[in-house]
Amino acid sequence: MISKVQSDILKLKKENDVAILAHSYQAKEIAEIADVVGDSFQLSLMAQKAKQKNILLCGVHFMAETAKMLSPDKRVFLANQLAGCPMAEQMEPELIEQVKKMEPERTVVAYINTTAKLKAVCDVCVTSSTAVKIVNRIENDKLLFIPDCNLGDYVQKQVPNKDIKILQGGCPIHAAVTLKDLDDAKAMHPNALVLVHPECIPAVVEKADYVGSTSGIVEYAKKSNHKEFIIGTEISIAETLQYECMDKEFYILSKKIVCPNMKLTTLVDVYKSVKGVNDGSAFEIVMTDEEIAKSRKCIDEMIRLGS
Ligand code: 13P
Ligand code: SF4
Repeated sequence: MISKVQSDILKLKKENDVAILAHSYQAKEIAEIADVVGDSFQLSLMAQKAKQKNILLCGVHFMAETAKMLSPDKRVFLANQLAGCPMAEQMEPELIEQVKKMEPERTVVAYINTTAKLKAVCDVCVTSSTAVKIVNRIENDKLLFIPDCNLGDYVQKQVPNKDIKILQGGCPIHAAVTLKDLDDAKAMHPNALVLVHPECIPAVVEKADYVGSTSGIVEYAKKSNHKEFIIGTEISIAETLQYECMDKEFYILSKKIVCPNMKLTTLVDVYKSVKGVNDGSAFEIVMTDEEIAKSRKCIDEMIRLGS
């Protein structure tokens, strides 16, 4: 049964013509009233396809910014304006410009967890679900991969024929998980399959049974005939899966994998945002035409090569 706040949101989103796009890490009560729930790539595709004139993103800032780039004629809002991704802020465009000057022959591949101003100096974006496919499809064999060195390492191992220079950055939440955390979880649950996000360190990724995006992990666990899983990404995914597959058991890889930014958005934030799209109280993503034009080239490339 849906709650009073949820039914108010459903009514208001119709009245105010709002599509709600929720990242897979969002709480169950938000996912229940969303038009789509997915990983970064799925949210990008949906931002392009949405028929509504307003988009409300429940996730972190770079996701709303990407939605704005892909749908510049729509108004795009972020449900909680404090929700950022620390990885997205790790590198400045000047650093990439310097590396490009030294090695101009490299195609610059940026994980989508980056700011618009950083995307503006890159050639193509990737997400965790599309990185291997896109890197394989890029014609150039010499690449620069930023900012997640763990995802970069994973891609390099899947595409060994390419020369990938990797800069050191990454997700502080996933990167905090150690091999000992994995060994401890496996010792407690020896029959469980290990499903991890490629933002984890290489030593953890190498020992996993499946490596994939947030949605990839959810899909894999749902389809599998196996009964027990250790989930190596934000702990919300284990909770979501446990609700959806009551006949299976889901264990968290480590209680350290809690993303405080993804946890910021509440159902009341969603209610206030859907209500506030026309009175200026919702947090709107504002970008100039020039900013959009500069930064969206690598997002368009991602959609072209990743679809
Ligand atoms: P996904 O594209 O797998 O959803 O990853 C986004 C993210 O921020 C994971 O921490
Ligand atoms: Fe960013 Fe990591 Fe949080 Fe994902 S889990 S939003 S990469 S800080």
